[in-house]
Amino acid sequence: MGLSHVYGQADEAESIRTLHAAIDLGITFFDTATAYGKGHNEELLGRAIAGRRQKLVIASKFTHGQDGEGRRVSARAAVEASLRRLATDHIDLYYLHRVDLDVPIEESVGELGQLRDEGKIGGVGVSEASAAQLRAAHTVTPLTALQSEYSLWTREVEAEILPTTRALGIGFVAYSPLGRGFLAGAGPTEENDRRRIHPRFEAEAVAANSRRRRTIEDVAERLHVSPAQVSLAWVLAKGVVPIPGTRTVRHLEENWAANRIELDAATIEELETAFPHGTTTGDRYPAEQMKVVPAAPAAALA
Ligand SMILES: NC(=O)c1ccc[n+]([C@@H]2O[C@H](COP(=O)([O-])OP(=O)(O)OC[C@H]3O[C@@H](n4cnc5c(N)ncnc54)[C@H](OP(=O)(O)O)[C@@H]3O)[C@@H](O)[C@H]2O)c1
Repeated sequence: MGLSHVYGQADEAESIRTLHAAIDLGITFFDTATAYGKGHNEELLGRAIAGRRQKLVIASKFTHGQDGEGRRVSARAAVEASLRRLATDHIDLYYLHRVDLDVPIEESVGELGQLRDEGKIGGVGVSEASAAQLRAAHTVTPLTALQSEYSLWTREVEAEILPTTRALGIGFVAYSPLGRGFLAGAGPTEENDRRRIHPRFEAEAVAANSRRRRTIEDVAERLHVSPAQVSLAWVLAKGVVPIPGTRTVRHLEENWAANRIELDAATIEELETAFPHGTTTGDRYPAEQMKVVPAAPAAALA
């Protein structure tokens, strides 16, 4: 996502270099969406994987929204457009990016199930669905994966959603595992950075949340690794698939090395004690976007 000017400017040549470096490291799972740069991200990924497509698992996502003539975008139209931009004849995993307020999830995943049966997509996924929506969707079309935000400062899914994916045998893909950079000590530096309208990146929230981030920094110092690596090692310890984003080869290599870090039980507890779920200052999205993600369960008792 960050390769399409969402968190500040991205350099096209460095983006391609980073994607190629990822393939060279042995990374096979790439995540994009129709929404990222309005098609730019899928086209960029399509160019980067040309000639190396076969061993890769490509995931993309769509929302119904409206087309130029005010009609609801069907899953079929979205998949056809994604296939063109990705320059491939098959997308391994295709998600409903957000459950539509006007279209029942059963209808959306039913359309995707049809496309899977036709071989245009491999698996059907949903993003930011509630436990009840997951159960309803899975009855109509068996789901391959749920993609939702999950990191030390966003642990709400642990209450109901993550256990539901486990009970139903649905994979869990953790997006923004570095807290959009915050847990790694990064934040917006440029004007056109979407994080500037996120409540968690307002000055007061940053001040409050930085205090608990110190625990990550302390652990990192003790283990001689970076805060980004500690944050990713924690997500990996939860048995889910993190999909960190970066625009640079340097951060890519650092993040990849987190695979080798195993946190012991005491360190995991230390980190979780610093980040009880539901206690992070600031909503994870602006108000309008909060309407289309599951309501957070009551905060954990500290
Ligand atoms: N389903 C959804 O609704 C949804 C929503 C958001 C994201 N996603 C997916 O999840 C992916 C990752 O999420 P994300 O990009 O929002 O958040 P993230 O992976 O938590 O954080 C990315 C940010 O962290 C910085 N960063 C990365 N590695 C770093 C390191 N080692 N040290 C310091 N800073 C580092 C990046 O900056 P640099 O570029 O400078 O490295 C970038 O600003 C996206 O690419 C997208 O595919 C899905």
